[in-house]
Amino acid sequence: MSGADIGLIGLGVMGRNLALNMADHGYRVAVHNRTQSVTDDVVGGFSGNDGGLTGCRSLAELVAAIRPPRPIVMMVKAGDPVDELIAAMRPHLEPGDIPIDAGNANFHNTIRRSAALKEAGFAYLGVGVSGGEEGARRGPSIMAGGPREAFQRVEPILNAIAAEYDGEPCAAWLGADGAGHFVKSVHNGIEYAEMQLIAEIYEIMRTAFAMRPADIGDVFGQWNQGPLESYLVEITAAILATEDAASGGPIIDVIVDKAGQKGTGRWTAIEALQLGLPAPSIDAAVVARVISARKADRLATEALYQTIDRPSGKPIDDAVIAMLEGALLGGRIAMYAQGFGLMAGASQTYGWDLPLSTIARIWRAGCIIRSRLLNPIAAAFAETPNLPNLFTATDLAGMMIHSHEAMRKTAALALAQGIPAPAQCSALAYFDGMRQGRSSAAMIQAQRDFFGAHSFKRTDRDGDHHGPWGGTDA
Ligand code: 6PG
Repeated sequence: MSGADIGLIGLGVMGRNLALNMADHGYRVAVHNRTQSVTDDVVGGFSGNDGGLTGCRSLAELVAAIRPPRPIVMMVKAGDPVDELIAAMRPHLEPGDIPIDAGNANFHNTIRRSAALKEAGFAYLGVGVSGGEEGARRGPSIMAGGPREAFQRVEPILNAIAAEYDGEPCAAWLGADGAGHFVKSVHNGIEYAEMQLIAEIYEIMRTAFAMRPADIGDVFGQWNQGPLESYLVEITAAILATEDAASGGPIIDVIVDKAGQKGTGRWTAIEALQLGLPAPSIDAAVVARVISARKADRLATEALYQTIDRPSGKPIDDAVIAMLEGALLGGRIAMYAQGFGLMAGASQTYGWDLPLSTIARIWRAGCIIRSRLLNPIAAAFAETPNLPNLFTATDLAGMMIHSHEAMRKTAALALAQGIPAPAQCSALAYFDGMRQGRSSAAMIQAQRDFFGAHSFKRTDRDGDHHGPWGGTDA
């Protein structure tokens, strides 16, 4: 057959679920996996419409099965496997064909691949897909980048399989070459920061207030009915309500406290530093995962500092719960502010013209960071596309004025009791840094000039100036 609408290579959990999602929506999908038995299993297990999935034994067979110009989704591991697959597929492709990387890719690789494939006459799409296994199967959020005409060829398919919010598909073309993968990487940076923030709030309730996991889960469950409503808060409640059959206790207590990472959050933090844009809570979250992984180091160090007071473990009351709720909301706003600031800055550097309001809209369903807060964010960027930063949006400013006190008290409590809270503290420091009309950097400039004659600007005169540091041996 040669009538498939789209091809998909790589039938791991995400790839298989995307293929099934497309087939469920009436598309004919040619699929291929390096291990033939996996292809056979996926196609054999499909009980939907006839011709929905066609198993292909080779890349040549897969390409021949698709109606040109051929969109071919690659769902393989990021990095070399993508380059290797493109190289293997290329001899079979025709000009106009559309290879699509729908995995988590470093957007610099996507830019490089786009340029190389464009020269050969192909239209390369880099598409971020968020929502995990369930999202891929039932409706993810889809962030696409690459040539717009190529996107238009697959737009009906992507719209059909994407999550919906208020009847709007959570899929969009966001800009040229690496735009989609960059936005997905910022999504993951925010995801890391929020997960860390939630973990810190959990830890405060657990150790400073000696709450039981199930009770903390109830608190998260209640928060999920209000302004904090989000997928991550919802799953936190579910995790804390889960008992472990083997130990008979809460499952959270038998999970090893070392966080893994595939690298997407780290890419975002590195890019922010490269671009000179502030994303301190994303940095903090990446570093917290790295520290968590150093378990042996942590245990050895803990043994030396037994004399330092432990968290108090006193009973919690409603005022503290309200304080923690405010801290989580304020922290979340600060993290979105960093993520959107990063996208605004990168958009200029890379010439993408990223539609920030659309990005907030397509993050409202399907993706991991979906939350109620994305509504006012989408509205703010719709009203003022060049908003200097999210803290200046009226609705968000109202929320920050309401929550910053809670962030301060929570950070102070964590610091006083020795509970690490890098996400909360960095979010607060970012907010305070951004709201200082006059910062402490006059001192930095003076120091730079003192030891390095780097000069400084004056507040009252134009030009470059040096200090009267004479008489000192700098
Ligand atoms: C998503 C997720 C997804 C995945 C990442 C993060 O948006 O669906 O972000 O892409 O969970 O791989 O994983 P790490 O925590 O291992 O970086």
